Amino acid sequence: MTESQLIDPFGRTVDYIRMSVTDRCDFRCVYCMAEEMTFLPKSELLTIEELEVVARRFMAMGTKKIRLTGGEPLVRRNIIQLIRNLGAEVKAGNLDELTITTNGSQLSKMADDLADAGVRRINVSIDTLDRDKFKLITRWGDLDKVLDGLHAAKQAGLQIKLNAVALKGVNDDELGDMVSWCGDMGYDMTIIEVMPMGDIGNENRIGQYMPVSVVRSRLAKRFTLIDSAHQTAGPARYVEVQDTGRKLGFITPMTHNFCESCNRVRITCTGQLYMCLGQEDNADLSHALRTGGEAGLDEAIIEAIGRKPKGHDFVISRRVDNVAVGRHMNVTGG
Ligand code: 5AD
Ligand code: SF4
Repeated sequence: MTESQLIDPFGRTVDYIRMSVTDRCDFRCVYCMAEEMTFLPKSELLTIEELEVVARRFMAMGTKKIRLTGGEPLVRRNIIQLIRNLGAEVKAGNLDELTITTNGSQLSKMADDLADAGVRRINVSIDTLDRDKFKLITRWGDLDKVLDGLHAAKQAGLQIKLNAVALKGVNDDELGDMVSWCGDMGYDMTIIEVMPMGDIGNENRIGQYMPVSVVRSRLAKRFTLIDSAHQTAGPARYVEVQDTGRKLGFITPMTHNFCESCNRVRITCTGQLYMCLGQEDNADLSHALRTGGEAGLDEAIIEAIGRKPKGHDFVISRRVDNVAVGRHMNVTGG
């Protein structure tokens, strides 16, 4: 397999890309979207073929893992073509993993195809197992359909991880039951702190910030949580739930300290390469590809990795705080 040629100025090897294949979604989760959304015109999206070229150029430079995201990736027309072609590279040993983050709405019809294509693991976003709450959170989602999809995915042999966003006063009282249910079903689970992101409209802001540290200490009263050796380069910290034998992750996007080991970059559905989630700096891979072909694309990727920042705004503001304290000390201390 190709050794990574993508090493950033801080010595971090970039070998994981997350590609958004559409901005569209068939749900309207309250923390993610407004009910009325204007989506991008199709002409601005990378085509399925262009998405594949971008993925392949990254692979040629050492990418080992690709995650497809959205919006909802499985509502993109012909997405299975991209999944089949990249999945073939997993089967051939050229890619370690092709994974998908999905809301599960299409799984009952697509799970077999995904498994056949070479997908082995998926992340499915489910914040509650209560039908009415599910409707409240996703606005347009149908829990039974998603549960059918999960069942189909399990039957197809896919490993499943549930992603649940913790929402105070909405699902926080239910997370323990979900951990237990995941244990019964053989799923791993990750609990995610809600992030204030994007314009989600004001009128429907249900649920409040719920620190996962609080979630974790509550869960620790009901389950035996064992710190796990399993660590990824990402923001999740994992424990093993001894009672169920499953992994449980906690993601605290607001309090990260994982920038040091960051191995990933993100590509939007319009082909903008973001070197860091918390920074605006990006590179226009669509323009590079459409004007310069694959050589132009390679050049743009290499150039962009050369300016991957050390950390995101939150870490920087933490540093600025320190500086402010320093100044204050200078003034008072003389
Ligand atoms: N805060 C936290 N998680 C979010 N997700 C989407 N928007 C937010 C947000 N504002 C989650 C989804 C899904 C994953 C892709 O990101 O619930 O699990
Ligand atoms: Fe956003 Fe995912 Fe919910 Fe769709 S399912 S609205 S992309 S969080």
